[in-house]
Amino acid sequence: MRSVVTGVGGYLPDEVLTNADLAKFVDTSDEWIQERTGIRQRHRAAPDQAVSDLAVEAARRALEAAGRTPADVDLIIVATTTPDLTFPAVATIVQRKLGAPVGIAFDVQAVCSGFVFALSTADGFTARGRSKCALVIGAETMTRLMDWSDRGTCVLFGDGAGAVVLEPGEGRGDASDRGLLGFALRADGTKQDMLYVDGGVSTNGQVGHLRMQGNQVFKHAVINISEAVTAAAEDAGIQIADVDWFIPHQANQRILNGVASRLGLDEAKVISTVAEHANTSAASIPLAMAQGIADGRIRRGDLLIMEAMGGGLTWGACTLRL
Ligand code: ACO
Repeated sequence: MRSVVTGVGGYLPDEVLTNADLAKFVDTSDEWIQERTGIRQRHRAAPDQAVSDLAVEAARRALEAAGRTPADVDLIIVATTTPDLTFPAVATIVQRKLGAPVGIAFDVQAVCSGFVFALSTADGFTARGRSKCALVIGAETMTRLMDWSDRGTCVLFGDGAGAVVLEPGEGRGDASDRGLLGFALRADGTKQDMLYVDGGVSTNGQVGHLRMQGNQVFKHAVINISEAVTAAAEDAGIQIADVDWFIPHQANQRILNGVASRLGLDEAKVISTVAEHANTSAASIPLAMAQGIADGRIRRGDLLIMEAMGGGLTWGACTLRL
């Protein structure tokens, strides 16, 4: 059986912070941020919005697109690095807020790569007939992890959520099938110092702030992501040249362009939302997918490759026929 994506939804909080807004309290400029990253603005969750609230909005939109209701949902996986509480999982909070019945619900933590890892995890249930209607959600309030005096990081991130509905579907067992076709997942714990949060329950009891060696992450990103995309295409038995849309994690326009160039991908096939959303970590891929579908570029039957890299380091890629 294949895990077919039957609905996609995204949600961005109302408040928009432009680069000029940030330049009022950080030593930066719109020119520097746009030139180095492509980012023009980011959304920020309201003080009374928890990450589960963002996730619920995205989930409702994905369920509506799939023609499903919360009563149908038997599995919820939330990829997040900014949970409402240390426990319970955001997924069980989303389950309660949606009014979904008793089923399976848990979180996946792979930072910016979380959505790809969560999709692969959900595929293990759906493709084996153990879930009939799964919600896979990437949701983040990254602005809550920022050190607003560190201009090297605070300008890069934003808040948001995206969700897909996965349902089992039959196929011929080749790359013409609708559904998830192939994966490549990677982690290298020796690279922790490049990107991490300097707080946690069992170290100092603090939430902490995001710390990053930006230029080191940048160097690893293009090489590692390209390798994972190639491996995910091989796993699916497809050629990268046949891909209709490339949906990268939206970290930085220069990383997106670097990966596209290394893989020989036409930049016109790259869905980019980084200018408007900034880096929303695990939410960025489903948010970009939702935007590409809403504006009519991505259609049913299209062949997609998603990829991401984040703290850990973790990285990975996934191929999907929508
Ligand atoms: N505004 C103005 N100047 C700045 C800012 C800012 N916001 N941030 C840094 N600078 C300055 C630095 O202080 C430095 O000044 P100096 O030369 O006087 O010391 C100068 O700009 C160059 O700094 P670098 O860090 O070398 O700049 P770089 O060209 O590497 O760009 C950036 C920094 C944008 C962070 C880049 O390295 C990057 O995008 N890296 C990828 C990191 C990333 O996207 N991480 C997200 C999570 S991982 C992922 O999702 C893939």
